[in-house]
Amino acid sequence: MESARKLGEKLLIIEVLESTNQTLRELAEGGEPEGTVVVAEEQRAGRGRLGRGWASPRGGLWFSVLLRPPGPPADAGVLSLLAGVAVARSLRNELGIRSSLKWPNDVLVEGKKLCGILSESRSGPGLDYVVLGFGINANFLVSALPEDLRRSAISVKEVLREPVDRLAILRSILNDLERLYGAFLAGGSAGIISEWKELAVTLGRQVRVETATGLVEGRAEDVDGSGALLVRTPEGPVTVSAGDCVHVQG
Ligand code: BTN
Repeated sequence: MESARKLGEKLLIIEVLESTNQTLRELAEGGEPEGTVVVAEEQRAGRGRLGRGWASPRGGLWFSVLLRPPGPPADAGVLSLLAGVAVARSLRNELGIRSSLKWPNDVLVEGKKLCGILSESRSGPGLDYVVLGFGINANFLVSALPEDLRRSAISVKEVLREPVDRLAILRSILNDLERLYGAFLAGGSAGIISEWKELAVTLGRQVRVETATGLVEGRAEDVDGSGALLVRTPEGPVTVSAGDCVHVQG
């Protein structure tokens, strides 16, 4: 797909804004083409999943990527998994950091969150656009984050004990994203799902998933072709397409 070979060709670097996802969604609504990337040094109103905020101090790598996939709305779920796979690959290849994925796409190092990803889309009969927003704790210490986040977060600077070249990481993620996205458009979701499973630590675990319609608790058994999590609960199997997943201890 020709249009998928250009992620980041148009790169808007903005010093301070509310949210890179918000800015890119506005551009998308105005007809911005696939591949545009918005990067910010600092976000004043960074957005997390489930309507939460996302603390975005200076030194982080905060950016969003616009995709316009030609398939059905259900493809948005796989693209969100794909984004996590791209980050995990880049961390390994670019920085030698081994990470794992918690469904759907939290990137964990030493069990702590190094990167969160917010996927937002608009669809009619088809998928109009998907904005993938990446929040990578890069060149700061977690002491720069609000106190309640510090125990569960980690940064690249803490893992490597030195600051990193954020533009090099961005370039690497965009390359991986483009390759995986191209493979998805050409061959469907199976390859992405299988890579995701190799990196994921959620399957086989007891989980508690907060969804828009309530809490789902049980054993995470699988992800389906659309990236949804299949949870076996005492009441029977439940398919969760979006939510915040906690691995329950023990
Ligand atoms: C999560 O809750 O785990 C997702 C966090 C996603 C944060 C990133 S930072 C860049 C982009 N812009 C936003 O407002 N959010 C995402």
